[in-house]
Amino acid sequence: MSQPNSGTFDIVIFGAGSGGYAAALRAAELDLSVALIDKAELGGTCLHRGCIPTKALLHAAEIADQTRESEQFGIKADLVGIDMAGVNAYKDGVVGRLYKGLQGLLKQDKITIVPGTGKLVSKDSVEVDGKRYTGRNVILATGSYSRTLPGLELDGKRVIASEHALKLDRVPSSVIVLGGGVIGVEFASVWRSFGAEVTILEALPRLLAAEDEEVSKAVERAFRRRKINFKVGKPFEKVEHTDSGVRVTVQGGETVEAEMLLVAVGRGPTTTDLGYEQQGIRMDRGFVLVDERLRTGVGNIYAIGDIVPGLQLAHRGFQQGIFVAEEIAGKNPPVIDEAGIPRVTYCDPEVASMGLTEAQAKDKYGADKISTYNYNLGGNGKSQILKTQGFVKLVRVNDGPVVGVHMVGARMGELVAEAQLIYNWEAFPEEVAQLIHAHPTQSEALGEAHLALAGKPLHAHA
Ligand code: NAI
Repeated sequence: MSQPNSGTFDIVIFGAGSGGYAAALRAAELDLSVALIDKAELGGTCLHRGCIPTKALLHAAEIADQTRESEQFGIKADLVGIDMAGVNAYKDGVVGRLYKGLQGLLKQDKITIVPGTGKLVSKDSVEVDGKRYTGRNVILATGSYSRTLPGLELDGKRVIASEHALKLDRVPSSVIVLGGGVIGVEFASVWRSFGAEVTILEALPRLLAAEDEEVSKAVERAFRRRKINFKVGKPFEKVEHTDSGVRVTVQGGETVEAEMLLVAVGRGPTTTDLGYEQQGIRMDRGFVLVDERLRTGVGNIYAIGDIVPGLQLAHRGFQQGIFVAEEIAGKNPPVIDEAGIPRVTYCDPEVASMGLTEAQAKDKYGADKISTYNYNLGGNGKSQILKTQGFVKLVRVNDGPVVGVHMVGARMGELVAEAQLIYNWEAFPEEVAQLIHAHPTQSEALGEAHLALAGKPLHAHA
């Protein structure tokens, strides 16, 4: 029996996270009518369980470290303790204000918000609580969830995922972090700053294995200095519960014990039982396959964000959402270059990168066709003032543009704004070398690296 139709829209958007709500806002600007469906809060993982709350924790962690280290700057202060209730109130306050702002943005005539659990029931409609919302176009944007491993059950208490870690009411005395990727190193960094004993277990040979190898080495060195323990090249084998917490065994038989285990082994696409396969949408291991214009090939159904293979980043979701809204409005937007998406990991030290790693550039262009330059933050005044260590590394094609920028050190995330312009505008080092960087800022390190690569180093040791 067909369900009552609750209206026909230009676009039905399934999921109101970064991708879905960006599509809704851009579509409304373009005068398209939208139904925006979500079973949880508007804003999705990024705002409520991901980017924003974790970065608030990382900022609180930075303040703890600065208090501890204040004497280095001639300031006398004692770190008396971490008041998790206070930290959580600060974090929740940030999320709450942004959530309120987002609700305000989405409250407009062109956007109908539909709270509830949806299912794709035809090539042009999503059903929610027995009502059908039909769209001349449909955008699937149902996001991702914390994955775990076979035999490793999340109980939310001793064996937790990042969403549980964000809600802890105390600092654990010791934690094992399974996975030395982005989530793993960010939480390891927070907990260490808060005073916990931390051990990261990573299957691959290095932490942040997707980054340039020199970046991983620098982070590992910094983590050793910070007394963050890690074991790399050690895949997980099993976990057992003990009287005081958990015991994890890695391949080879080595064991580590701690009060709790954070599982950070990647995020899976939220696509199960949502009707996607039934409508003939092509899937690969749960991900929705799309062409470069983000079309699924079924009806006028598009897919965006974490359910589409590629970087699972909020800003990719925003851009894809805007892209599809413009595509539907007939604006023919340029295809998104996935390699042009900036990446930042907010651990201490921060990691920021653009484009190709040295190894990827060698693969793509040939080892003799590229040059690299590594500018040490030791030569950068502002970095010395901050007492941070690290570098800016450039990868260029010889007689060609910069194809990779890799940065480690405090506040490097903010420099990715310039790095992404350099990469996306295919700038040559000689061109960037002409541009003036304010003194004393950390952005000078980017300028200096380009000066050096253009053959005219200034504050650089050979
Ligand atoms: P990830 O893919 O970055 O890291 C997962 C790590 O777990 C990998 O290094 C992997 O080798 C390791 N692993 C997998 N199976 C294992 C096993 N059996 N034993 C030991 N290690 C194992 O995924 P993560 O950190 O969970 O993050 C999920 C997504 O969320 C990522 O795509 C990330 O980009 C995104 N994210 C982005 C942030 C940012 O931009 N700052 C912050 C947090 C998450």
